[in-house]
This record gives sequence, structure tokens and C-alpha cells, in this order.
Amino acid sequence: MHTIAILTSGGDAPGMNSAIRSAARTAINLGMRVIGINRGYNGLINGDITELNSNSVSCIIQRGGTMLYTARCKAFFEPEGIQKAVKKANEMGIEGLIVIGGDGSFQGATKLCQQGLPTVGIPATIDNDIKCTDYTIGFDTACNIAVEAIDRLRDTARSHEKCSMIEVMGRNAGFLALDVGLAVGAADVLVPEKKFDIQRDVCSNILIRKKQGKSHHIIVVSEGCSIDMKKMAKIIEKQTNIESRITVLGHIQRGGSPTMLDRVYAAKMGNYAVHLLQRGEYNKIVAIQSNKVVDFDMNQALAMKKTIDFDALEICKFISK
Ligand code: ADP
Ligand code: F6P
Repeated sequence: MHTIAILTSGGDAPGMNSAIRSAARTAINLGMRVIGINRGYNGLINGDITELNSNSVSCIIQRGGTMLYTARCKAFFEPEGIQKAVKKANEMGIEGLIVIGGDGSFQGATKLCQQGLPTVGIPATIDNDIKCTDYTIGFDTACNIAVEAIDRLRDTARSHEKCSMIEVMGRNAGFLALDVGLAVGAADVLVPEKKFDIQRDVCSNILIRKKQGKSHHIIVVSEGCSIDMKKMAKIIEKQTNIESRITVLGHIQRGGSPTMLDRVYAAKMGNYAVHLLQRGEYNKIVAIQSNKVVDFDMNQALAMKKTIDFDALEICKFISK
């Protein structure tokens, strides 16, 4: 393989740059030409590219976001979009493609592979919702950002003896909410994977804590729960006589310098991805299993379902009292 391309797709995740650097430098040092595709799959269709050399990926290891920009590309949901991308890749002499993104991006990658463009995926999403891997690039940074923000919110919630309800990202999954909840010692963590009743579960827990003399309460809510936070705050106030405040952390969780863990996994996975392409192993997702870098067939990996650690959810609530 002489020419490979790298793109980032879907929501950006801290550590994507570190993965670009690792993959680009590995390929360059193995004698390959490396093309950076800008703006996800849109860039592949439009031929929006940047030639990458060793210097063009200097000083990005510590930067959040992605130097290649990222995007969501509607055209990829139609077969014509995939065909256009493969045609353009052929015209540009691209023999293999590394896709850095989440499971949506891998759905696109596997279709490219079916149409003849060899692809390898590197999981990067703050949601950590890809089954085959213990870990996705960006998750650790996003968790740490949320933890730092909630520690600050705790100071004010404690001073005013209030309930602080914090919505965190995660799309349809509660992995981010659960780990953040454990790390901040939340009174409760609400995730889409587990049904709850505000009155029965949340308010009763606050009342038990109140009886124990606890005067402030942190409740972490996953965005995937799709609940009306204002309505929930009103119910809590009515049932417990404790005023509630709402904070939606939003995109702040996706920004900032990647943590050491995100950089280390990005370095290892970026390198591994290039070696897969070089060995002619395509349609694969690089993954972390028990701290080791491994790989899975992309179609099989996409068919797997990741479940939340329900025991950890119980532990969080159990040790909040
Ligand atoms: P993520 O990769 O973070 O999960 P998205 O789900 O938004 O992000 O997907 C990113 C892009 O991947 C989409 O905008 C689209 O271009 C492509 N994609 C997602 N799902 C599919 C699919 N089923 N078929 C083809 N391409 C897809
Ligand atoms: O997939 C990453 C993510 O940040 C999710 O947690 C969130 O639901 C979504 O992307 C937000 O997307 P957008 O950036 O389009 O608002």
C-alpha cells in the first residue's frame, strides 16, 4: 500500500488529533504517502484534501478538536454518495482509508469497503458506546471535564443547600453519565438504560439523604433520558422542599486538551490501524480490550450491543447515603 488517507467524522472527540498524528507518522515512516481528508465524508466526495507530512502533524498531540475538521454527511446514507466517494478516492490514488469516529462513521466505512475501498476504523467518541472496545478516544477527557464542572457546581450547591441537576452528553447511552456520577459521588445517576420514576426513585432518595443530614444533592442526568429537567426540578422542590438548579454541560464536554489516557490510546490505535492496512487487513475496527490493542471485523463489531454496568449504577446510589 503506497497511499493512505485519514479522516475524522461525526462528533469531534479530544484525542482525535493525537490519533491523526500517530497514524500519519506511522504511515510516513513506513514510506507511504498520507492524505488528510477534510470535513469527514463530505471531503472524500468533494476531494477536499490536505497532503500530510511529518511536520504538518507537529504540535497537535495536545490539542482538542480535529485539525482535519469533522462533519456529518447526509449523502452517505444513499448508495450514490458512497459510490461518488469511492470514485473520488480512486481518482486521488487512495488505496486505504482510516476513519476516526463513532459507530455511525463506521457504518459508512463498512459500505466504502463493500464498494472496494479498504477501510479501518479507530473508535473516537465521547459517548464510549462502541461494544467491541472497552474504550473510545475522547471519553476520558469528556468525563474529566464534566467532573471538574460538577465539582464547581457542588461548591455552590453545598453553600446554598440546594439540589444540582446536571445534564451530561452521551447520545442514547449512559456510559458517560455513569462514570461521571461515580466520580463526583452523585446522589443519583439517571441513564436511558434504566427506567426510573422521579417521585419514587429520585425524591425518596433525596428525602433519605436529607434525614441523614445531607443538605445538598448532585443528580447526574444523561441526555439520552430525554426528560424535561425543569419539570423534574419542580417535582423535586415540591416533594422534598429543596430548591433545584439545572445545568446542561453541552458541548463544553467535547473541547479542551485530551487527557494522558486519551493520548496514549490514540497513539497506540493510530499506529495499529496503519499496520492493519499494510498487512491487507481491511474492514476492521481497532479496539482496546483489557488494556491491549486488538481488532474486530467491522460488521461483527457493529452488530454487537454494549450494555451499561448496572452494578456500578447500584453502587453509586448505595454509597451516596
Ligand atoms: P458518529 O460517527 O460519532 O457515531 P454519526 O452517527 O453522526 O457520528 O455519523 C457520522 C456520519 O457517518 C454520518 O453523518 C454519515 O455520513 C455516516 N453514517 C452514519 N450512519 C451511516 C449509515 N447507516 N450508512 C452510511 N453512512 C453513515
Ligand atoms: O456523539 C457525540 C455527541 O457529543 C453526543 O454525546 C451528542 O448527543 C451529540 O454528539 C451532539 O451532537 P451535535 O454536536 O451535533 O450537537
